[in-house]
Amino acid sequence: MSYNPAQSIQSVPLALAEDSYDIKIGFDLRHQLHELFRPWNQGQQWIVLTQQAIFDLYAAEIDALRTSGYKLDVILVPGDESAKHIGEAEKVWSKMVDLGCDRSSVLVALGGGVVGDLGGFVAATYMRGIPFIQVPTTLLAMIDSAIGGKTAVNLAAGKNLVGAIYQPKTVLVDPGFLATLPRRNVISSLAEAIKYGFIRDRSIFDLFVDRFDDLIKLDDKSLLTEILTKSCRIKAQIVSNDQFENGERRLLNYGHTIGHAFENLRAYQGLYHGEAVLYGMRCANHISWQKGLLDTQAYEAAQKVLAKFELPDLGDIDPQQVIDVVAHDKKNINGKLNFILLNEIGEATISTDVTPQDIIDSLAVAA
Ligand code: GLY
Repeated sequence: MSYNPAQSIQSVPLALAEDSYDIKIGFDLRHQLHELFRPWNQGQQWIVLTQQAIFDLYAAEIDALRTSGYKLDVILVPGDESAKHIGEAEKVWSKMVDLGCDRSSVLVALGGGVVGDLGGFVAATYMRGIPFIQVPTTLLAMIDSAIGGKTAVNLAAGKNLVGAIYQPKTVLVDPGFLATLPRRNVISSLAEAIKYGFIRDRSIFDLFVDRFDDLIKLDDKSLLTEILTKSCRIKAQIVSNDQFENGERRLLNYGHTIGHAFENLRAYQGLYHGEAVLYGMRCANHISWQKGLLDTQAYEAAQKVLAKFELPDLGDIDPQQVIDVVAHDKKNINGKLNFILLNEIGEATISTDVTPQDIIDSLAVAA
């Protein structure tokens, strides 16, 4: 594959019969939104759902849509996880009624995972479903949450407990948005990219082995486009094969079972999602090796690359608490723990025989 980020737009298909769409990846796409949105514009009302900080950065791009003839209003939501609440969804639905939105209106989610998840949920439910478009502005959203149609709000009892699988019409990925993101946010998000290397595409893992420092700097446009395109392609293939997460899509949970437990035990404070997943993958690699799936050479290579990511200290983690949280993971089925392990780098498997002792052993070595 040859990449010419200055000129080209990469197009990654996500095949889902009549819900199929393309993920488009290219520097400066944000300046071409009026062209890229055109297939869905029939003069109807458009809504850009975003947060104040993002609006402040990209007001010119939004204005350019208006001057190109789009009938468009902006709805702002809080800039943190509190936006993923049914009360916020209700406020957005009501504003959309006030703005005259009907079933043909298009909702554009411009932001990170919070805006994408809430925007998708609002679009899935407003008048039983309206078209929506994802324009992710964070690395995590670009390679993971904006792709695949998972939409949700949180409940007090847990994250993402109410939602729908509802696919966007397209996902527009402009790596230029990343220039304004805090570095720690970007680095931790690369966890999801190396995850794709572990579970499906050895060439992504090899990129981290060979070019870790360049990847972390994010200043090589060609390399950045390459890692984004490869990551989106793996996510798109997996979602195409298993939209509703009956099998293969569960592999995307690699590193997340124990990672979620760390996030939960830290009350979602002070530890980024990607950082928790990096710790979780270190543990899952250890379990894969201890169970005789991953050979020693591959295990050592995997842990060596993961050790390059700077991670905050996890502090005192009580293994029994980790076991308790893992036992209540919402991905468990009929009380059985569904744990993702590696057969080799580039090939994952679903295991139902990971024991509490396996987890305790992995925590002692990897967390
Ligand atoms: N983020 C995991 C999934 O989309 O299935």
